[in-house]
Amino acid sequence: MAASTSLHPMPVASLPRHVAIVMDGNGRWAQKRWLPRVAGHKQGVEALRGVVRACVERGVPVLSVFAFSSENWSRPAEEVSGLMDLLVMALSREVPSLEKSGVRLHFPGDRSGLSPRVVQGLEAAARDTAHNDTLILNVCFNYGGRWDVVQAARRLAQQGIEITEETLSGATALAHVGDPDLLIRTGGELRISNFLLWQAAYSELVFTDCLWPDFDAAELDLALSEFARRERRFGQTSEQRAGGDTESAEAGQRHA
Ligand code: FPP
Repeated sequence: MAASTSLHPMPVASLPRHVAIVMDGNGRWAQKRWLPRVAGHKQGVEALRGVVRACVERGVPVLSVFAFSSENWSRPAEEVSGLMDLLVMALSREVPSLEKSGVRLHFPGDRSGLSPRVVQGLEAAARDTAHNDTLILNVCFNYGGRWDVVQAARRLAQQGIEITEETLSGATALAHVGDPDLLIRTGGELRISNFLLWQAAYSELVFTDCLWPDFDAAELDLALSEFARRERRFGQTSEQRAGGDTESAEAGQRHA
């Protein structure tokens, strides 16, 4: 595995523990080259491979990516089936090297509506990497932030559990990790598009014009440097934060 270049080696203390990414811009990347949209998604898988490696090298312990949203079903049928095929192919091709790098895969999202072939692929990849602990990679597939809140609330109601911020957090599809510290969106749009709506309450947001297939370790480093410069106040004043009263403010911010 070739080492990627780090423009800004970051002290571990100022690294986000959880980076989330809306990987946007695959279609435009392909269109600029007169290629079918699915070629952009294929190149997107290559970009994802590089970013996973960069996170492992830098010591980021959790990465969550938005691979297929609840709304993506409304895309042309050939693009939807292209994305399904790509996931299954990428998993069978990538799992051995993810395994070697200590990456554990999770697939937060709604399994209903996915074909048995896709569900089997997800479950096998999650099972085969379940013992790894260097990086947790959440590939959010058929995921939507609103779906997640509703399914969590429904589950608690069915079990007769009172809904509080804590119980609801614990019932979401990302309950196995802390909330994202940094949420990056590539592709130039300035919105969250129904990604981690509940979990991103206090995430630092970084938007870049870079199209996802062009996003590499150097682009990641720019986002990490931007994150390191941000002052996170969790609703408090700068003075309170400087005085060390961080406990109450971060009570609602979970870190697994
Ligand atoms: C948004 O770009 C991207 C997606 C809908 C899919 C993201 C998927 C990948 C990066 C590939 C990795 C996926 C798997 C299956 C592991 P867009 O198509 O909306 O781009 P546009 O805004 O330029 O049209």
